[in-house]
Amino acid sequence: MKVLVIGNGGREHALCWKIRQSQKVRKIFCAPGNAGISRIAECINIKADSLEDLIEFARYESIDLTVVGPEAPLTSGIVDLFQKEGLKVFGPAQSAAELEGSKAFAKNLMRKYGIPTAEYKTFSSFLEAENYIRLKGAPIVVKADGLAAGKGVIIAETVQDAIDAVRMMMKDKIFGSAGKKVVIEECLKGEEASFLAFTDGETVIPMASAQDHKRIFDGDKGPNTGGMGAYSPAPVVTEDLERKIMDRVMIPTVRAMKADGRKYKGVLYAGLMIDKGEPKVLEFNVRFGDPETQPILMRLDNDIIDIFNAVIEGELRGKELRWKKDASVCVVLASDGYPGSYRKGEVITGLEEAEAMDGVVVFHAGTTLENGNILTDGGRVLGVTGLDKDIKSAIAKAYSAVNKIHFNGMQYRRDIGLRAIERSSSKY
Ligand code: AMP
Ligand code: GLY
Repeated sequence: MKVLVIGNGGREHALCWKIRQSQKVRKIFCAPGNAGISRIAECINIKADSLEDLIEFARYESIDLTVVGPEAPLTSGIVDLFQKEGLKVFGPAQSAAELEGSKAFAKNLMRKYGIPTAEYKTFSSFLEAENYIRLKGAPIVVKADGLAAGKGVIIAETVQDAIDAVRMMMKDKIFGSAGKKVVIEECLKGEEASFLAFTDGETVIPMASAQDHKRIFDGDKGPNTGGMGAYSPAPVVTEDLERKIMDRVMIPTVRAMKADGRKYKGVLYAGLMIDKGEPKVLEFNVRFGDPETQPILMRLDNDIIDIFNAVIEGELRGKELRWKKDASVCVVLASDGYPGSYRKGEVITGLEEAEAMDGVVVFHAGTTLENGNILTDGGRVLGVTGLDKDIKSAIAKAYSAVNKIHFNGMQYRRDIGLRAIERSSSKY
């Protein structure tokens, strides 16, 4: 089989790494990929949003299966376009991808079908939004309706901050048309968890649990990022809670999408807030999470191609996912200044030494190859991932690999996974 993976981050490196373990796969292409991916796949110079070029390439190379990493091509309808050409592709159709593409759509669906989420209201008028914020008071959460590269959510501590956020979205249009509409919602408390599942539109099979660390600094301080690290399993998701999440969120959402004529196939990712054992949905994503995918796929024992095929063919029923008992931890190494502006082009050293460690995989997120050197090429640069018998050992392993790697301005969190240890020690 020839497989094409679309995207260029740590998630796509992890997907290529896992796909490469399949006996069925003869060749992997990645568009556009990065320096790490180029060692296991052929990187082709087509961006993830160049849909016509991607189709042409897939046709020309007779690609047997395409796996879409990021949300933007999904919400632009890449799956529908590929299918029209008779090309097999993993991911939701455009009408289903609206679950991530429009927060107002997702919230309305949840309200209609009784799926637990924060109380909210949607606005297209600045004045009405302002009045609502004054009525509700702070803290309050302001969200741009459309895609905003993970930056469209503001947790406002004061009424003024909330109004300023709405003004920036609706009047200054900092997110372009994504901010034409805003969702204003109740601020939830609790602990966050990422819950991912495969679904063929009928059957829903959960993946191992994971937890992301969204803030830039230790102790969850500073601005939100795309994710500074993740670990799996997440002890906050007990067996009992997993059942609740499946019964109240995942299965009802897949049923609701079908009932609304938007049958959902692919990975469904629910960002959840867990308070006193009760889950509420913060957001849906219509794809694998980044960096959650790195530790999750390190623990998956199945041939991932079988799962992709079962999802596409509608044959997920009766399939079982097998997970390693080991825990895994991914520490993201980022460029100085991220999530704000940062330099690119710093030389990275120590990669080989880190990768030589047993149970360590260094997934590349923002890297490029130049004259034999691997250089930084993004905000999130690497995802150093360790697998070991328990979370504590996996943390130790990941950080000892991190210690071997260097580039100018390298920053990372020192507390990835600590929450999992605190939780398990408080339980026993
Ligand atoms: P989202 O893109 O909707 O996941 O939002 C990004 C982050 O903002 C989430 O991971 C949460 O940390 C936070 N967040 C979103 N919605 C809420 C809410 N209603 N209450 C509290 N925090 C929220
Ligand atoms: N790690 C959060 C996301 O993938 O959206």
